[in-house]
Amino acid sequence: MPYSIALAGKGGTGKTTVAGMLIKYLVKKNKTPVLAVDADSNANLNEVLGLAVADTVGNAREEMKKGNVPAGMTKDIFISMKLEEAIVEEDGYDLIVMGQPEGQGCYCAANSLLTGFLERLTGNYPYMVMDNEAGMEHISRLTTHDVDLLLLVSDTSRRGLQAAARINELAAGLHIGMEKSALIINQARLPLSDMVTNFVADAGLTLAGVIPADDTVYEFDLNGRPTVEMPDDNPAIAAAEAIFDRIVEK
Ligand SMILES: Nc1ncnc2c1ncn2[C@@H]1O[C@H](COP(=O)(O)OP(=O)(O)OP(=O)(O)O)[C@@H](O)[C@H]1O
Ligand SMILES: [Mg+2]
Repeated sequence: MPYSIALAGKGGTGKTTVAGMLIKYLVKKNKTPVLAVDADSNANLNEVLGLAVADTVGNAREEMKKGNVPAGMTKDIFISMKLEEAIVEEDGYDLIVMGQPEGQGCYCAANSLLTGFLERLTGNYPYMVMDNEAGMEHISRLTTHDVDLLLLVSDTSRRGLQAAARINELAAGLHIGMEKSALIINQARLPLSDMVTNFVADAGLTLAGVIPADDTVYEFDLNGRPTVEMPDDNPAIAAAEAIFDRIVEK
């Protein structure tokens, strides 16, 4: 099983941005190959990584359900072929995009094939980074994979911190094998106010570190330029890497 890191937090706090920085960091440190999983139904991790996505696991599931399996092909072979198409291979890492969740109706057959496939797939990687959509719902669905490190991402807002604290509590109560959780405060206007540090301490969160608000991060995103192509000496990147040095298991 890979060492798996899942990102969670309130909307727009920077989960996907931090996930991209983390993937780049792991590749740079030769912790490869990394499996990057985009579990946000509004997938956009590929943009941060500068990749085009051809297909998603959700599409494969839909086609299986509809029975769109070509004549002479077993369902097993069909699903593994479709899923191959949903994996983008890059230097040092692969990206798989989960896509839309299932709609109404019975997906049992498709899902059991999918589960098997994804389990075999994750076995090939020492590290896995999973970007999630905002909120709590996906956390309660994290049942199949053990999460070694839950990375909570918040800005310095009260609601961001509250969301992080709630997700942390929820995850601790689930049996998802969560080994440890840590909070990253992103888009921070420095220095942090006492209100913020007190909130973090009172909520029992472990502060892994702070990433400053940085105009270049914002502008790259606005112009559709991949975050991972930013210079390494950018203050936000440097802060993120120092955090990863401390928290990612060697
Ligand atoms: N440290 C930072 N400094 C400046 N801007 C940032 C920083 N981190 C993220 N951003 C910007 O904030 C916006 C939201 O970031 P991102 O998409 O990573 O958040 P998210 O938590 O994944 O959002 P969602 O909940 O919609 O998935 C983007 O425009 C991104 O470029
Ligand atoms: Mg996101």
